[in-house]
Amino acid sequence: MCGIVAYIGFQPAAPIIYKCLGKLEYRGYDSCGIAISNRDNITVEKDTKRVAALQFNTLPLDGKIGLGHTRWATCGEPSRANAHPHVDCLHKIAVVHNGNIENFEELRKALVGEGHIFTSETDTEVLPHLIEKYYEGELGQAVTRAIKDIRGSFAIAVICAGEEKVVLAKQKSPLVIGLIDKEYIAASDIAALLDYTDRVMYLEEGDVCNITTVGIELYRNGVLTELTEERIAWKPADTRLGGFSHYMMKEINEQPRVITETLAAFEGVSEKLIGLLDPPENRRTSLLMVGCGTSYHSALVGKYIFEELIGRPVNVELASELNYRANVIADKVALAISQSGETADTLQAVRRIKATGCKMVCITNVEGSQLSRLADLSIYTKAGPEISVASTKTFIAQVALLYAICISHANIDEILKKDLERGLGQIPILIRQFLNEQSNIETLGRYLATFNNVLFVARGINYPVALEGALKLKETSYIHGEGYAAGELKHGPFALLDSNTPAIAIVAHDRTYEAMLTNIREIKTRKAPVIAVVEEGDKEVADLVDIVIEVPHTDPFFSPMLNVVALQLLAYYTALERGCPIDFPRNLAKTVTVE
Ligand code: F6R
Repeated sequence: MCGIVAYIGFQPAAPIIYKCLGKLEYRGYDSCGIAISNRDNITVEKDTKRVAALQFNTLPLDGKIGLGHTRWATCGEPSRANAHPHVDCLHKIAVVHNGNIENFEELRKALVGEGHIFTSETDTEVLPHLIEKYYEGELGQAVTRAIKDIRGSFAIAVICAGEEKVVLAKQKSPLVIGLIDKEYIAASDIAALLDYTDRVMYLEEGDVCNITTVGIELYRNGVLTELTEERIAWKPADTRLGGFSHYMMKEINEQPRVITETLAAFEGVSEKLIGLLDPPENRRTSLLMVGCGTSYHSALVGKYIFEELIGRPVNVELASELNYRANVIADKVALAISQSGETADTLQAVRRIKATGCKMVCITNVEGSQLSRLADLSIYTKAGPEISVASTKTFIAQVALLYAICISHANIDEILKKDLERGLGQIPILIRQFLNEQSNIETLGRYLATFNNVLFVARGINYPVALEGALKLKETSYIHGEGYAAGELKHGPFALLDSNTPAIAIVAHDRTYEAMLTNIREIKTRKAPVIAVVEEGDKEVADLVDIVIEVPHTDPFFSPMLNVVALQLLAYYTALERGCPIDFPRNLAKTVTVE
């Protein structure tokens, strides 16, 4: 999704802005641009190019104040004209924007009627014209006035020729300011800032802020307010490839460490969380979990875990669906899951759930994210920045946390609790062993790359893993993968089965085992090739299917955490064989900040 950057300081702005834009590329974009202010002039360069190509193909820009933008088209196709920054008629005001202006058509009509000339199809372009309309010699006041006319979401950065300042405003879309000595970089997320600073300030809804080299003037609800400084724990090296050819592979390999660090950090919040989840009046109430995409899948694993171990009912909702229900049905506590903590659908669902009076716990990877600010309690996955669009390490960290929450929450005898804690603690070792020893997934990826459709089937606690495996395959390799509950095949999808549609069966040694064997036989009867993800040494499944991927033995309760790694690798190698841009799939964005 769109990423914005703004710089003001005493160094040439353009190289810093380009570098920060490069760090936002992972969010997904189709065009980019930069505006540099130098005394009475603003120079804009933009195109449907990669950031490095734009920098390489433009003359050096002189000036110590500027804006940058990576655009993920939502309103108007990807084109040079639609790329940001956008400017006013006199080319004195430049704006970059992340978000969605709902009433732009009526605003545009009115502005055109007043003589403003538009050059793009975007919603954003109304902003520089509105600011121009209200400008009376001070940019901050003009921005404050202009945003009163806007309905929708925005994080904007604005500069004006002749004024040595950057003005920021935020409503629903993310915006963070990085602090360096007398220099400031504002950006959509902290990944952009890591090379420059670990000191940040987060803006809240409705904030407007004037930044000069003298300092930051923040207006919250119109009142001058002090911003509090926070520290980022991530390091610049966390965003580098570190010898891997793709971030996805790097991040898959980081999973053992990520689980260990996530579980260690959880110990610090476990008591607070149990206090929230488990007062006597809450014990029989249901827990609502919400998320999108991969985070929704981890919530589904959570449902199985909670219901299996403690019998507490869990309702899992897609945030984007919950947002359009007439009524939000939530009990006392709800849990929102989001890697970025910035997914617009999830944030909106959280606002709706909170409005019912329900307490909100969140699991997120990004400290300071909007989700963590909305929640009553935040639990962090310690995955470090996830750059690959396809989530891997954050999924496993979310699931590890759900296990830890469930085990610490469970009213079970101490021996069983200790056993489960030990079992969970072993998972990083088993994943490391699997990553080191697995030998046939690369070959299998080459085989899978020849098909157009693949079915992923499982039952019980591994059903969400089938959904996640299918999602990983489709987003990285562009092969249609469909996750299905194995027992549902006979209710429709059987019609798809033939020798051109392989099925991937995820088989755990739990109460679903026999039923899975039956389903595999049914699939084989329809001539579909079957690949099974099984526990090592499972002869019975190996004899039945065409190929097996063996994962190390573990308590089946924890099997999703091993099985999903096999499917992540399979998606990776399939995409590699097909020559797909693994880390940055077409049309996708890492942080989805529009609803
Ligand atoms: C898929 C993937 C997406 C995200 C979804 C929600 O690999 O990463 O499906 O899970 O966009 O994002 P977050 O977790 O940031 O809310």
